[in-house]
Amino acid sequence: MFKPNPYRPGAGMMPLYLAGRESDIYDVEQLYAGILANIPVQSVVFIGLRGVGKTVLINQLQRNAEKKSIFCRHIEVETRNDFISQIAACSQAFLREVSTLEKVRSLIDKSIDCIKALVVSFDPKGGTFSLSMKEKELYQSVNLTQTLTDVFTSIGETAYEAERPICFFIDEMQYMKSEELGALIAALHRSNQLGYPVMIIGAGLPRLYKMLADEKTYSERLFIYKEISSLTPEQAEKAIRMPVKKLDIDYTEEAVSKIIAITKGYPFFIQQFCEIIYNNVDGDMITADDVDLYIHDFYNVLDTGFFKVRYERCSDMEKRFIFAMVDCGQLPCTISQIAHNMKKDVSAISTIRAQLINKGIIYPVRHGELDFTVPEFDGFIRRLEDFKYQ
Ligand SMILES: Nc1ncnc2c1ncn2[C@@H]1O[C@H](COP(=O)(O)OP(=O)(O)O)[C@@H](O)[C@H]1O
Ligand SMILES: [Mg+2]
Repeated sequence: MFKPNPYRPGAGMMPLYLAGRESDIYDVEQLYAGILANIPVQSVVFIGLRGVGKTVLINQLQRNAEKKSIFCRHIEVETRNDFISQIAACSQAFLREVSTLEKVRSLIDKSIDCIKALVVSFDPKGGTFSLSMKEKELYQSVNLTQTLTDVFTSIGETAYEAERPICFFIDEMQYMKSEELGALIAALHRSNQLGYPVMIIGAGLPRLYKMLADEKTYSERLFIYKEISSLTPEQAEKAIRMPVKKLDIDYTEEAVSKIIAITKGYPFFIQQFCEIIYNNVDGDMITADDVDLYIHDFYNVLDTGFFKVRYERCSDMEKRFIFAMVDCGQLPCTISQIAHNMKKDVSAISTIRAQLINKGIIYPVRHGELDFTVPEFDGFIRRLEDFKYQ
């Protein structure tokens, strides 16, 4: 029998009920009001672990902005080098959108010129413009910061004149290359100084804090940092109950408490666990006994999917590092504890640490302590049979 399931586990899957993000949404609405009044506003970055709901939140914020006729584009940064071509395409799309407005006609040509210089110089594979050799020489630039700043200020000016604010949504910002991030911050800063209505709403893993701070001192003033974490018990309860409400199904208090205790309020885990329970249980009241029956399936699904794909991206040395981390007993842990468990010097394992941070598996918490970017990853490692690293 086909049974539609109202839970939506999976990266970027919009839940039927977005729990507990009301105040974040409200705060961003204030910024939208500013930008719609042609006032430059701060940008926002949402930072948190995998599966806490950054992507779905920024997608919701984009929907809200679109309704207010803010020009929006979504960019997902990937490890391969494509940020420049994406930002160029988004800027071009903006120009297309306002191209019929007489009052910005001359600004559009200027903006296209700036985008050409960006693409020709920093996105050599991009086939957006076909240019003669002579033109190529004319547009060739060596300075990414300057070129991207030209793009932002020219589209910013166009946005200002057209009274059509721009908001770019950038997901997985931690994958941006250092020079790209530096250029983006500088470009945004300049268009902000000039009073143009351009903003960015970004999302990324915790190491983004440091990346932004390392890049430019003024990034702290340019961005509002918002930490996104797991749901409080009240919020988690809504995430559990609301999706089945329309189907006239409910959970007992005890069942809800149990799900919250097991998932620790992590949004992805709630969706995953409730999906499994809902699939298997008939009847209109889900009980604690029902929940108990499917705990094993829940861990199984996480172990063979969510956790495993991340684990398998690691080399043997990286896996040993991970086991040594878990063997510290408590997380976050220090690099010297890990080195001790691996029977190595700290200096000998610092490249592995850097690789794992780059892959987005671990992140520096504070004072050199490390933790996993995926919640409950240590539990998964403990469940693995081959618990050895010596
Ligand atoms: N506020 C929320 N309420 C209910 N479910 C949520 C919420 N935020 C995220 N989810 C669910 O959690 C999962 C992960 O969301 P996602 O946005 O991909 O996380 P992230 O981008 O932080 O890794 C998805 O299945 C989504 O439906
Ligand atoms: Mg995401």
